[in-house]
Amino acid sequence: MLRKPILALSASNSVRELVSRLPVTRDVVARFVAGETVPEMIDVVTRLQHDGLAVTADFLGEDTTTIAQAEATTAGYLELLDAMQQADVVAGSEFSIKLSALGQALAAGPGGQSGADYATGNARRIAEAAYAAGARVHLDMEDHRTVDATLNTLAQLRSDFPDVGIAIQAMLLRTPKDLVELTGPGSRVRLVKGAYNEPDSVAHTDPQQVDLAYVRALKTLMNGQGYPMVGSHDPTMIAIADRLAADAGRSKNSWEYQMLYGIRPAEQQRLVAAGHTVRVYVPYGQDWYGYFTRRLAERPANLMFFLRSFGTK
Ligand code: FDA
Repeated sequence: MLRKPILALSASNSVRELVSRLPVTRDVVARFVAGETVPEMIDVVTRLQHDGLAVTADFLGEDTTTIAQAEATTAGYLELLDAMQQADVVAGSEFSIKLSALGQALAAGPGGQSGADYATGNARRIAEAAYAAGARVHLDMEDHRTVDATLNTLAQLRSDFPDVGIAIQAMLLRTPKDLVELTGPGSRVRLVKGAYNEPDSVAHTDPQQVDLAYVRALKTLMNGQGYPMVGSHDPTMIAIADRLAADAGRSKNSWEYQMLYGIRPAEQQRLVAAGHTVRVYVPYGQDWYGYFTRRLAERPANLMFFLRSFGTK
């Protein structure tokens, strides 16, 4: 019930300003975000790896409106990559990228190319550095208007880096069709329910329908030849994934679970102990507002946690 209004607020600049300035916000944000600096991020990544978890790192940012911002985000990823290499935590890690942060929606890039081509070029710079360091790149999926451009970037990157991954949202009505092209060898798909405020002309908006669509998509991925990544905290989806993988004759190293940093950490550990690969999506950086409000929208208890913290300060 609260999901849509919270997601709508996430787009308001004045609310962003207000919430970001509240002193209490930072403590609550710390539950979902590794920190604002590279050393804080390295500490978290090191600890997670020590606990047997794999990592996909996100330098927070989205909806870039200037070339300077897109350049800064690209540089931020390269700086993080370098620091993770120095700290010896880069091998086997992934870097999750939002193409809107790299300039996808800009009218034009610095060389007059389209924003989408410019963002693809920036993603390629990150991919070159990541693959040279023994890591991988994964494209996050943003709202439905970006899906075609993001799939196009994926195709371009995969011609040089065949296992670049992509997030696919079960809630979108187009997803079964998109998956047809994404189940071949080397295809790494993170299946998520979808975090954006979508109209019912393009998406399932009833949570039960989203769950059913998730299971159908999961079945397609598990029966395909790629590497499915089950991006969910939902106990039902987690159990169904395990069963579908077994039905498809998959070994535990041919697919993985993914969860967000700070959400159900005990479940992450339980799955690791059961022999599963679990990858944690770890965001860091100063531009945490959009990410944070999507986490509040997903779960009313998170909003209550946020509101209650005002009473304790
Ligand atoms: P659901 O929301 O139904 O929650 C099931 C249960 O999980 C809850 O009852 C609760 O126990 C727990 N839970 C879920 N969310 C929680 C929260 N915020 N805080 C605390 N507990 C929570 N989306 C997108 O559109 N594009 C993307 O690229 C990505 N990328 C991505 C990566 C990874 C690794 C994950 C796990 C998720 C994403 N998402 C995403 C977000 C995704 O679309 C979805 O919004 C959330 O994962 C919430 O959906 P669940 O499947 O977890 O189930």
